[in-house]
Amino acid sequence: MEIIIAKDAEQAAAVVADRFEEVLHARGEDGAVLGLATGSSPVLTYRELISRHREQGLSFAHARAFLLDEYIGLSADHEQSYHRFIRDTFTGHVDIPDELVLSPDGEAPDPRAEAVRYDASIGEAGGVDIQILGIGANGHIGFNEPTSSFGSRTRVKTLTEQTVRDNARFFSSSDEVPIHVLTQGLETIREARRIVLIATGEGKARAVRDMVEGPVSAACPASILQMHPAVTVVVDESAARDLT
Ligand code: F6R
Repeated sequence: MEIIIAKDAEQAAAVVADRFEEVLHARGEDGAVLGLATGSSPVLTYRELISRHREQGLSFAHARAFLLDEYIGLSADHEQSYHRFIRDTFTGHVDIPDELVLSPDGEAPDPRAEAVRYDASIGEAGGVDIQILGIGANGHIGFNEPTSSFGSRTRVKTLTEQTVRDNARFFSSSDEVPIHVLTQGLETIREARRIVLIATGEGKARAVRDMVEGPVSAACPASILQMHPAVTVVVDESAARDLT
């Protein structure tokens, strides 16, 4: 694991944006496959990529993207759906073709079949070249909550009470937060060729310590990233507070 301690959240975002830029250039017209996360952690990175697109001509025209997860029961256009979120905060502001920004269908009549279909579609696209991840305060990545199997693939999961509480800030009340999601599994995530995890703020310090220095354990799902050959963890000084 490569650990980069940035001075603040802006600098952390610039480091992650650099990694994305490298992959976009390396894949060129073959088209990079981007793995995108939602939540607040990647927002500054997306902002930085948008400004590089506008000011320096960084192009996503040959890229495609797969989201990590989606709420079950929300339409793609629902204000809080992750599909809508990614378009509003990132992909709608760069030149990536909208129809190539893919997410699990939260309204699929058979969510289990949708999970299998979505997982297969990532493989059919050749796999993810670079995956950006945030981390939950309890060590989740995607919505793989503690005790998730390291061998898991995209599937239906129930959110923990803590995650529902954490996500309630985006809804008018915690009663409105869907409790079921479709999420890429830990094995699916691990198949990405490069992974960049970004964590900022002291609320993430303990999860970062457990991920980086703890034992590889399902109690901290992100700790499985210790086994991946190309992971970069980018943290600000607050999130790095508990590292030895
Ligand atoms: C989002 C996702 C989650 C978040 C995590 C951290 O697509 O899969 O794992 O990355 O919950 O959320 P924030 O960044 O809002 O603290």
